[in-house]
Amino acid sequence: MITFDNENKIFKIDGKNFSYIFSVNSKGILRHLYYGKSLKAYDVSSSSDLGFDWSRTYLDETGAERTYDDNYYNDRSLAEIASHGLMDKSGAPVIVRKIDGSTATEFTYAEHRIYRGKSTLETLPSSHGDAQTLEIVMSDRFGDVRLTLSYTVFDGLDMLVRNTRIQNAGKTDVTVERAYSLEVDFPESEFDFIHFHGDWCTERFAERAPLINGMHRISSNFGRSSHEENPFGILCRKSTCEQSGEAYAFSFVYSGNFALDVNVDKWHRTRVLMGINDEDFRVVLNPSQTFEAPESVAVYSDSGLNGVSHIMHDFVRENLITYKNAKLLRPVLFNSWEGCYLDFDTRSIVEYIEHARDIGAELFVLDDGWFGKRNTDETSLGDWYVAKDKIDLDRVIRKCKSCGMKFGIWFEPEMINPDSELYRAHPEYALGRRDMERTLSRHQLAIDMSNDKVVDLLFERMSDILEKYPIDYVKWDHNRNIGEIASASAAYGETYHRIIVGTYRLLGRLRKKFPDVFFEGCASGGGRFDLGMLYYCPQIWASDETDPVQRLFIQYGTSYAYPLSTMGSHISKNPIMSYTGKGNIALFGTYGIEMNPCLLSESERDEVRKINGVYKKYHADVIANGDFYRLLSPFDGNYMSVMSVSKDKTKALVLFANLLKENNRYRFVRLQGLDENKMYTNSLDGKSYDGAYYMRVGLNFSVWLDEFRTFLVILEESK
Ligand code: DGJ
Repeated sequence: MITFDNENKIFKIDGKNFSYIFSVNSKGILRHLYYGKSLKAYDVSSSSDLGFDWSRTYLDETGAERTYDDNYYNDRSLAEIASHGLMDKSGAPVIVRKIDGSTATEFTYAEHRIYRGKSTLETLPSSHGDAQTLEIVMSDRFGDVRLTLSYTVFDGLDMLVRNTRIQNAGKTDVTVERAYSLEVDFPESEFDFIHFHGDWCTERFAERAPLINGMHRISSNFGRSSHEENPFGILCRKSTCEQSGEAYAFSFVYSGNFALDVNVDKWHRTRVLMGINDEDFRVVLNPSQTFEAPESVAVYSDSGLNGVSHIMHDFVRENLITYKNAKLLRPVLFNSWEGCYLDFDTRSIVEYIEHARDIGAELFVLDDGWFGKRNTDETSLGDWYVAKDKIDLDRVIRKCKSCGMKFGIWFEPEMINPDSELYRAHPEYALGRRDMERTLSRHQLAIDMSNDKVVDLLFERMSDILEKYPIDYVKWDHNRNIGEIASASAAYGETYHRIIVGTYRLLGRLRKKFPDVFFEGCASGGGRFDLGMLYYCPQIWASDETDPVQRLFIQYGTSYAYPLSTMGSHISKNPIMSYTGKGNIALFGTYGIEMNPCLLSESERDEVRKINGVYKKYHADVIANGDFYRLLSPFDGNYMSVMSVSKDKTKALVLFANLLKENNRYRFVRLQGLDENKMYTNSLDGKSYDGAYYMRVGLNFSVWLDEFRTFLVILEESK
């Protein structure tokens, strides 16, 4: 519910459990007042900034000092949209350079409207659903720049979606040098900060540390949201744990360069800013042009970090993903990559399909290697024509369909190999300056998605394949960070942004033309796992790492922001544990299979079939659409335990795994999220207890543990 108290000029946004409050002062400045657990009302007189009475300005025309009654002072007051180039040096969300070179901006209230619903963005993904929105238009005291801030609150969810649009309302060009989407100021600094950093095969490792004075920035300037840092961060009280305490989380509906700045200044004001990374970002706006920034989201939880995840998970599933069947049980996916890499032919793939079917796969995905001359990774990205001398795709698909399986295929549209027909015909389609030596990564250059001709060409070539062959699934890969950014079609400062907009355009057009095709995202594993991609692709490769022990960390870290239904997670031939053990872990994502299936022994096949059975019986209700809880963190000790409960609380799956060998010791794991009064039978000791018992006493894992053991415990309501 959003209200405006006209008398006191106070905006109040109420979610299920939170209030977000700010006011308009007599100068028209938006003063941030409060963000936290629901409040009935806010007494503005209690916020007399740090006890000072310094709010003075001077105007030559009057030759006098002027004071403002509310003590607002533009260096230390909490701001809703901080000024730039005045006294506030803690970071402004928007920086605009005017024709005379000046960058001072102070935005003041012009008008607002509150309406049911939510508008969508023109060029970028945006969330949807039953909601209420506040839009405030602001004008700049120092020039003709108009700013529109929007705040959306979804019914029943503790999520605030924010967005910023910047318009050149003047007669000369202006340059937008920073266009962040979110600012939240807190009148305190006693927080811990949690972020999710990583690398290829170690994506989204959670790291928690106390905030200290000064600026802490997590960011990507890699041209994608990146392995290195995920566009998601949490501020929480020092006492906050998984199950209790206050936490605020911030994220970004965008797949390119981002920055999340957390700045504690000398007043112990904490300012959070999030948006497109302003390094290498400049957008020139001609008169009346508008720049729309991506959406950002802010979550408030007073039920710990699991509470944050519940809100994020519900938001992603209900208000972000656009694929119509995303909530249905997905077919058991078999992917060819780890089995044969680029080394296959029609006969070997047909054999794979037979064996994949035998172990229960329902969707066969032919990964990299089916196009151009792609027998090595040095060639052919861009040449999206079937390599007919290598693979008879008609026959392969016929085989799949005759086995009752769906068929999927791999693309990496945003890349080009210098050794490709496309590059030879159109070298200007690659990013980077052709008169300079460019850095290759995996022998490839990034293609210039800011160029409409490139997007059109890719759309045609991919459409040709998707029209000609009955393809049910596309794996959309992206295998390099972007370095040299020069483009033949976009200005330097805009290119990083425009290539993401181009990618979204291509994805959007293909999704529209092929509404039944399921698109899964991937970027050298999990290098682009973000809310922007999830809008188009309801599932993303969590990592190239299929070592199940590494996966414990990767999936645990990923779960903070993203629901399990979005995490592609496969069992492979990795020898560190049995297929059952690997399956137990992979089931806490969207399970799939990836190895040479012809080499599996009969007993291994049986193991895989059993995992499929669990997947089919429980996945949709419990894992994909249920409520997920982290119980024990592998980042903190020798165990990892997580669980997921169906929304109706009749079924739950619990995973317990250990890393190092351990003797007998007491090891009870207390569960979460069950109905205290329901009786549940568990598959660990076969007994039945009520929900309260599981949540207070716990499941007893007090046994000798060899290294890397896993237990999957199924709980079902016993009537
Ligand atoms: C990187 C992906 O993460 C892998 O799964 C595989 O598709 C390769 N690319 C293919 O080149």
